[in-house]
Amino acid sequence: MHIYLDNAATTALDPKVVDAMLPFMQHHYGNPSSIHALGRETRAAIERARKQIAGIFHVSPGEIFFTSGGTEANNMAIQCSVRDLGVTHIISSSIEHHAVTHTVEALAKSGQIQLSWVHLLPDGSVDYAHLEQLLAEKKGKTLVSLMHANNEIGVLLDIQRVSNLCIQYEAYFHCDTVQTIAHYPLDLSQVKVHFISCAAHKFHGPKGVGFIYISSDAQIKPLIHGGAQERNMRAGTENLYGIIGLAKALELAYAELDTTSTYIRSLRTHMANRLEKEIPGILFNCPADGLYTVLNVNFPPSEKNDMLLFNLDIAGIAASGGSACSSGSNVGSHVIAVLNRPEQSAAVRFSFSKFNTMEEIDTVVDKVKEIVLG
Ligand SMILES: Cc1ncc(COP(=O)(O)O)c(C=O)c1O
Repeated sequence: MHIYLDNAATTALDPKVVDAMLPFMQHHYGNPSSIHALGRETRAAIERARKQIAGIFHVSPGEIFFTSGGTEANNMAIQCSVRDLGVTHIISSSIEHHAVTHTVEALAKSGQIQLSWVHLLPDGSVDYAHLEQLLAEKKGKTLVSLMHANNEIGVLLDIQRVSNLCIQYEAYFHCDTVQTIAHYPLDLSQVKVHFISCAAHKFHGPKGVGFIYISSDAQIKPLIHGGAQERNMRAGTENLYGIIGLAKALELAYAELDTTSTYIRSLRTHMANRLEKEIPGILFNCPADGLYTVLNVNFPPSEKNDMLLFNLDIAGIAASGGSACSSGSNVGSHVIAVLNRPEQSAAVRFSFSKFNTMEEIDTVVDKVKEIVLG
């Protein structure tokens, strides 16, 4: 038996995505920069993918740049804003993904920026009044870097509200949308954001590919040098089949959005209801109206907690203790830390996809009960 409830870490490839990628692995292998027919063919496929993605977010294809995923997109938005846009002040939050926190901390440490952490409310959501205060007091050109949904506790950002504040106080806005792209609609012609980040592997696309949207009024230069690819914005031969897979995964996700999101919400609600009813002392580390793909459960203090994830793993159940990217390490989560949960309690993140079934959820709850109460 194997039950995969770690979809916020990464997802299984959709077989339809594999089908779309295969011809580009087997037959269409020309370098997109080559001028011969094989190269022109793959160049055209990349440009079709770019156009399709731009259409989904109502932006121009010239504002979409393929990257190796979310980490690179986040680094690009932040580092290049400082280097090329004259940003000297960054406002972010302590529970961003490390691709953001470590990047802004490195820039602050080297004296290139002043760094402000926005206050968080007890559930981890942004204190908008404090954000406004920081913006009102800002010194010099400022970048706000806040994630759309937290990958561990699923708390959501009011992206429109932050966008409005950034417009009002003339700040740049980078939003790490890695956990929400393909799970929520996003119309960038309606909400002003300068940069968003995307990773295909979070929505049944391939690993190692994503994109950054760079608004045409935030003219940055490349982070990676050495070639004219991506219209001189990102050097290196394109991840051709990755890009094809990314576009296909996005197309499928948005075509199926209503059905998929309703279905996943029903899995999450069912699991939350059963856990709450059947395990005394359970708390949720995620708001009920947070990211619907994530249910972060706080188990009350118990000596069994240390072995909880291990025992789930033995039972063939994949879940996560902290952030996806640091699962496997036993460093405490910088996100759960802000929730001030009692010591010795354990946080387990269950995260869902369209490939999970209600039977799987019931099996997992039964197993969790056995481990925790048994
Ligand atoms: C919110 C968030 N940002 C960035 C990343 C990094 O993305 P990638 O793994 O594509 O580098 C992740 C991945 O876990 C994430 O959840």
